[in-house]
Amino acid sequence: MITLKINQNLHQKAFSSMENKRIKSVQTLHNRTGEGNDYLGWMDLPVTVNAVEENIISTANYLRNISECIVVIGIGGSYLGARAVISALKNDFTDEKPEIIYAGHHLSEDYYVDLLQYLNTVNYSLIVISKSGTTTEPAIAFRLLKQHCEMKYGTAEAKNRIVCITDARKGILKEIAQKEKYTTFEIPDNVGGRYSALSPVGLLPIALAGCDIHALLMGAKTMQQQCLSSENNRASHYAMYRNYFLKQGLNIEVLSAFEPKLHYLIEWWKQLYAESEGKNGKGIFPAGMIFTTDLHSLGQYMQDGQRMMFETILSVSSQKKECIIPCLENDEDKLNFLSGKKISDINNAAEKATILAHQQGNIPIMKIIIELLNEKNMGALIYFFEYSCAVSAYMLGINPFDQPGVEAYKNNMFALLDKPGYEQKSQQVKQNLSDL
Ligand code: PA5
Repeated sequence: MITLKINQNLHQKAFSSMENKRIKSVQTLHNRTGEGNDYLGWMDLPVTVNAVEENIISTANYLRNISECIVVIGIGGSYLGARAVISALKNDFTDEKPEIIYAGHHLSEDYYVDLLQYLNTVNYSLIVISKSGTTTEPAIAFRLLKQHCEMKYGTAEAKNRIVCITDARKGILKEIAQKEKYTTFEIPDNVGGRYSALSPVGLLPIALAGCDIHALLMGAKTMQQQCLSSENNRASHYAMYRNYFLKQGLNIEVLSAFEPKLHYLIEWWKQLYAESEGKNGKGIFPAGMIFTTDLHSLGQYMQDGQRMMFETILSVSSQKKECIIPCLENDEDKLNFLSGKKISDINNAAEKATILAHQQGNIPIMKIIIELLNEKNMGALIYFFEYSCAVSAYMLGINPFDQPGVEAYKNNMFALLDKPGYEQKSQQVKQNLSDL
């Protein structure tokens, strides 16, 4: 399903310098005694989410029947998990309905004007996801889209087309959902945003896109059993290798893939690791690359620039489809040496060639092998990364489950926009604005 590989020499070095710390962090996590231990609900989600699985599937089926398009509103952990799975599994070129569109993850005015115009032309539904229920970007998107939906369908029908996923008890979104009597799914109290991909936050949009969430959860459950049944599991080894490389002065991890369908999985991973580990002046900077695309840009730096990174390659072993290079009689483009080969044969050669080149360029490499891009393996991969992220942060002496740094820009923005309650801060922020 998911395999982790590293060369024996690096394993030995990491093992002799980090093994005790790894075991201690694994025990802290398994005994649920570490910092932030009131946010460990994600560890049990592959099992506990069973209670709402049927409900998610029936809501998804209902909305799929009435919608050509579904707009999923959310940001950060309330958006990236679903997008990662959907873009890994769905055909890029299809008119299959419903089309999934994302909103609430930025503040582009042009995007919203274009989106609202587009929604005039299609039958659509809205899923709004926010644990706090107060995040500005999705809240603005929801205000715009709720109004559009009510004007297009009337208030009564809009209620059938809007689903909320939010905290069980608090937040403005919860209040709106209750007042409007929208179908609502709860995000458990003990599950934080970036660890919520296996809760309704990820599962409902994934089911709406037509993916099999039962298989996804089965994959996650298998990985959960592998991780929790032994202190000596591979996900914790991944955490150990990362910390070993950091100790060698390599502050950046590049997660790369030779499969562009994994672009959003890498985005999800970046968000998970950056918000979990980047605190108190510590942490590994998570970067991502898609090869071979980025071999023609960042690849130059990887090969020859400053030595400050290690690389983890997400490698997909098998493809679902086949595309063979044809033979041309006149060989006008001189590519007949490739004829009869599959695109994946060439991609595999590119991967092997890159590994060799990067190793020769002194970049330590590990490889995470995914047999095939399917629901089961995506579920396993999500659990693998969540688990190793928690272990890795504990190895660093960091609470993986808070994100105090995210507040800095928000507070300044509210002050600049004269949000009630920010009057004092407003003056101070306006005086201190940089000349940029
Ligand atoms: O991981 C996190 O906690 C964050 O990335 C949140 O998911 C993100 O800020 C969105 O928050 P909310 O779901 O409260 O709107």
